[in-house]
Amino acid sequence: MCGIVCYVGEKEAKAIVLEGLKRLEYRGYDSAGIAVQNGSEIVCLRAVGKISELERKIGERVIKGNSAIAHTRWATHGEPTERNAHPHTDESENVFVIHNGIIENFFAIKKNLEKRGIVFKSETDTEVLAHLIALNFEDSLGEAVRKTMSQVEGTFGIAVIHRHVPGEIVVARRGSPLIIGIGEDGHFAASDVSAMVRYTNKVVHLNDNELAVLTAKGFSISTAQAKTVTRETETVEWQPEDVELGGFPHFMLKEIYEQPETILNAMRGRLEPGEGVPKLGGIMPVWDHLKECRHIEIVACGTSYHAGCVGRYVFERLTEIDVQVEIASEFRYRKLNFPSNTYIIAISQSGETADTLAAIREARRKGARLLGIVNVVGSSISRETDAGVYNHAGPEIGVASTKIFVSQLTILTLLALLLGRHQKLSLTEGVEAIKSLSELPEKVKKTLSQDNHIQAVAEKYYPCSNWLFLGRKYQYPIALEGALKLKEISYIHAEGYAAGEMKHGPIALINPEMPTVAIVPQDSMYEKMISNIQEIKSRRGPVIAIATEGDDRVRQLADEVIEVPPTLEYLYPILTVVPCQLLAYHCARFLSRDIDKPRNLAKSVTVE
Ligand code: F6R
Repeated sequence: MCGIVCYVGEKEAKAIVLEGLKRLEYRGYDSAGIAVQNGSEIVCLRAVGKISELERKIGERVIKGNSAIAHTRWATHGEPTERNAHPHTDESENVFVIHNGIIENFFAIKKNLEKRGIVFKSETDTEVLAHLIALNFEDSLGEAVRKTMSQVEGTFGIAVIHRHVPGEIVVARRGSPLIIGIGEDGHFAASDVSAMVRYTNKVVHLNDNELAVLTAKGFSISTAQAKTVTRETETVEWQPEDVELGGFPHFMLKEIYEQPETILNAMRGRLEPGEGVPKLGGIMPVWDHLKECRHIEIVACGTSYHAGCVGRYVFERLTEIDVQVEIASEFRYRKLNFPSNTYIIAISQSGETADTLAAIREARRKGARLLGIVNVVGSSISRETDAGVYNHAGPEIGVASTKIFVSQLTILTLLALLLGRHQKLSLTEGVEAIKSLSELPEKVKKTLSQDNHIQAVAEKYYPCSNWLFLGRKYQYPIALEGALKLKEISYIHAEGYAAGEMKHGPIALINPEMPTVAIVPQDSMYEKMISNIQEIKSRRGPVIAIATEGDDRVRQLADEVIEVPPTLEYLYPILTVVPCQLLAYHCARFLSRDIDKPRNLAKSVTVE
C-alpha cells in the first residue's frame, strides 16, 4: 500500500527520504515521487515503477533542500502512471501533497472545483486535497490543512509543503497511520516506523483527526478542532539491522529462519513453568472481566485469519470458551449480537488493516469488548482495543507473512492456556503445555535443518501449475496457509482444503500432474489423513507429506516426506507450517519471482 516519508531538519533531505522510501518498498507500490523544498523553490519528480526508476530520473541532478516529502503509491483511483503518482500540486504549484487512503467525496469536490475553472491534471482523488489546501491557504499552512480536513470524507494520512512556508511540513491523519520521528537534527514523519528507524527510535503517534506542524526545531500537534495536544514520546524496539537482509537473499527467507527467535520473543518473560500459567501483562487491565469470558469472536484477514482458525481449535481444547472466527471484511455483514461475556480478538501484524479496523469499530458500536494481538506497537488496532498482547517480533518486511504467523499461534496458545488454567486445566496440564511450548524453538530449528531437502522437493514439483493442500482439524488452517503462501509468492494456483471435503469435489482434479501436500502429523486425525493419502495415491496423484519424524507408514505411502519433530497436538501447526513456507519460497525462487514484493500485493492493506 502507499507509503509516506518526510523530513525537515538541518541535513540534505533528498537522500534521507529516498532511503526511507526504500524501507517502505516492502509495502507494495507501483509508482513513487518526491518533492524537495529549498526556500521558495520546490523540485518535484515522479516515476512509474520501482524507486530505482525515480533515482534514475533524478540521476546526477543536485537537488538541494532541507525539507522533503516522498511517497510510494499503490493505485486506487487512476492507473499507475506518472501523472497519477504523488506528490500532487495545485494550479499555481504552491502546494505539494502526498496522501495515503481514499477521499470518498472526491468526485463531488472535483465537480465543484471544476465549476470554478480548476483544471485537474490527474485522475486521483488526492489532487482535490492540493487544490483545497491552496484555496484555503491565507498565511498558515496548518490552518489551511485543518480547514481542508473538515471538507473531506474518507481516510487519509497526508504530508504537505507550501512554497511560501519553507522549513515546515504539515501532516494529518484520519484512518491512515502517521508517526512522527524525533531525530537529533530534525523531524520525520512516516506511515511506518521502518522508514525512519535508521535515523531515530523516538516516535510520537498521531491519532485520527489530528494534525502536526513539523520544523527542524520542533513539532506541535493539534486536533481538527484546533485543540493543542501533548503526547509522550515512545521508544521503538526495532533496530536498524532489523530492516536489513543480513546475508539472506530475501527478507522472506530471513524471516522464516528467524522463527525460533520469534517464538522465544513471543514467550519471553511470559512463562511461569512451575505454576503452568503464562503471564500476559497486556491483558491484566481487563482480566477480571476476561476470565469470565465464555464466547470469543476472532476477526482477522489473510494469514492472520488462518492463525485465528488454528486459535479456535486451541481455545476449544484448552478452555470452556466457544469460539467463532470471521474474516474481518465479512464480519460486518453478520447480524451481530454478542452475549455480555463476549470478547472480540483482532489479530493483525500491522495493526492497520482497514477491514480488521472496521470490524472492531463495528463490534465496539455493538458494545463488545476488544482484545488485540498485534505486532506493530502503537498501531491503530493496538490503540483501539481495550487490551492486548504484542508479538514483539520486530518488523516483518517480506510481504508474505511468515514469522508473525508462528508468533500469533504462540500468543493465542498462551492466551488460551491462561484462560484454560483459570477455567478447567489442571496444574499438570499447564506444566506440560509450558514445557512443550519451551521446546518449540529447538523443534523449529530442527525442521529448518531440512531446508535442502525441501528445496529438492520444490525443484521437482515447481513446474506443476496446480497444487492441493490438505489437512484436518488443527492442520486444516495450515493447509489454507500453505496454499496461500504458494499462490501469493510463486503465482502457482493452489487450493487449501479440509481433507474430509476432498471427496466432495476436489478429488476430481487429482492426476499425476497435480501434487497434494498432505499435512499428516501423528495426531488425532492421523488415521483419517492416511485414508485420504491412499485415495490420492490410487488416482496416481503425487503426495508430498508433512509428517512426524520416523513415520514409516507415511514414508511407504507418500512420494516425498518432510519431517517435523513430535509435539502436542495443538502445537503441531507451529511446526508443520514451516515446511509449507519453505516449499512456497523455493518454488517461487525456481520461478524467479519477486519474492519479497509479489505482484499486486501490499504488506499493509489500509483500504477496505
Ligand atoms: C499473507 C499476508 C496477508 C496478511 C493480511 C493481514 O502472507 O501477509 O494475508 O496476513 O493482509 O494483515 P495484518 O496481519 O497486518 O492485519
